[in-house]
Amino acid sequence: MQSIMVKGRLEEYALHPWIFRPRVVRGEAGPGEAVLVYTQRGKFVGSAFYHPTAHIALRLYAREPQPFDYLYLKERLWAADQYRHALFPGEEVYRMVFSEADDLPGLIVDRYGEGLSIQINSLAFEVRREELADALEDLFAPAWIFERSESPARKKEGLSPVETVLRGTLPETHTIVLGGLRFRMPLHAPQKTGFFLDQRLNYQTIARLAEKRRVLDVFSYVGGFTLHALSGGAREVYAVDQSRNALDLLMENVKENRLEPSRVIPFVGDAFDVLKQLQFTRETFDLIVLDPPSFAREKKVVRRALKGYDELHRLVMSLLAPHGLLATFSCSHPLSWEDLLGSLERAARKTGRRFRIRGRFVQSPDHPILLGFPPSEYLRGWLVEALD
Ligand SMILES: C[S@@+](CC[C@H](N)C(=O)[O-])C[C@H]1O[C@@H](n2cnc3c(N)ncnc32)[C@H](O)[C@@H]1O
Repeated sequence: MQSIMVKGRLEEYALHPWIFRPRVVRGEAGPGEAVLVYTQRGKFVGSAFYHPTAHIALRLYAREPQPFDYLYLKERLWAADQYRHALFPGEEVYRMVFSEADDLPGLIVDRYGEGLSIQINSLAFEVRREELADALEDLFAPAWIFERSESPARKKEGLSPVETVLRGTLPETHTIVLGGLRFRMPLHAPQKTGFFLDQRLNYQTIARLAEKRRVLDVFSYVGGFTLHALSGGAREVYAVDQSRNALDLLMENVKENRLEPSRVIPFVGDAFDVLKQLQFTRETFDLIVLDPPSFAREKKVVRRALKGYDELHRLVMSLLAPHGLLATFSCSHPLSWEDLLGSLERAARKTGRRFRIRGRFVQSPDHPILLGFPPSEYLRGWLVEALD
C-alpha cells in the first residue's frame, strides 16, 4: 500500500474520518486506492481511501494497517448487519450500512426484506461497485440489489448520478413491514426511492400520541406518519404532499392495512399553499407532523432554510387546536437543534401563543452517530405542546 503523509498531530485525526486536501503534505495514489496514512513525525494515523482531486483527500476506514480486500469488505458488511440484528431482532427492514459510522465511508445499504437498495457517495466505492455487489450477494443472497446514487455529495467526488439494477429483477413496487404495518414503497419514483427508515422510532411515538386526535401530516410521502397515527387511533388524518404518486401509494397503504380510508383526507399540493388554505378555512388539528425534505445541505444555506421553517412553523402553530401537539423535523445536518428551536420561538412570538417543549426526536439507531463526526447526526426533531 502507498503511504501518504499529513500535517499535524495524531490526536487531530483521532475521531473525524475525513482528511482534507490542504492537510496532505506528501504522497500520491490512484483514484479510490487504499493507502496508509502517517503524520509528518511518522506516527501511524490509519488506513484510508485516497481521492486524487476532491477536497476530502482521504477517508479513513481503519485505525490499523489494513488492506481493503474482498475478505475485509465482507467482514465489515457482516459486522454492520450483525449490529442491526442486535438492535432489531427478527426484523427484515433496516439501514444495514450507514457510511462512516460503519467504517465504510460513502456507502449506504438499506435492507428492504428480500431486496437491498444501495447508495454510493464516494469514489472509493464507485471503483469497487462490482466487488461490493458480489460481497452483498455472497453474504445475504438478496433477490435484487438496486442502486440509486444521486446525492449532491457525488458531485464533489467527481461522480455523476447512477440508477441501476446491480443484481436480480426489480419489482415495480415493493412491500415492506415496519412497526407491524405494511407499506408499498416506490422503487422507480422520480423523487425518492425507498422509505424513511430514520424515522422508525418517531413513527412509534406518533402512534402513541395520536389516539382520538385530528392529525395533519405535512410532507407525508407514502404515509409513514399517517398510517402510524391511524393505527394509534387517530380520528382523522389530513396528509399533504406535492407528489400525487406518493399520496396514491399512501391511500393504497391505508387500504392494505385495513385502516379506514374515510378517515384520511389526501391533499396534493405545495405544503405552503395547502397550509394557507387550511388556515383560511379555519381548520384546526390536535397533532401536526412537519417532516419536510432537506432544506439545507450546506452551512451556507442555513439562513435561507430557516426562513422556510419560520414560515412553516408560523402556519402550523396557528393551525394547532388548544393544547395541540406539534412534531417538527429537520433532516439537514447543518441545521442545529438550536436553529430549529430558534425558528419555533420566532414563530410562537408571531402567533402569540405559548408552548411547552415535550421532547426531542432523533434518528433511528440503525443510523448510528459517530462521536466526533458531526455529519453523521442529521435527523433532529422537537415535540412541542400549545399551552392554550
Ligand atoms: C422527508 S420526506 C417526508 C417523509 C415522510 N414524512 C415519511 O415519514 O415517509 C419529504 C416529502 O416532501 C414532499 N415535498 C417536497 N417539497 C414539497 C412541497 N413544497 N410541498 C409538499 N410536499 C413536498 C416530497 O414529495 C416528499 O414526499
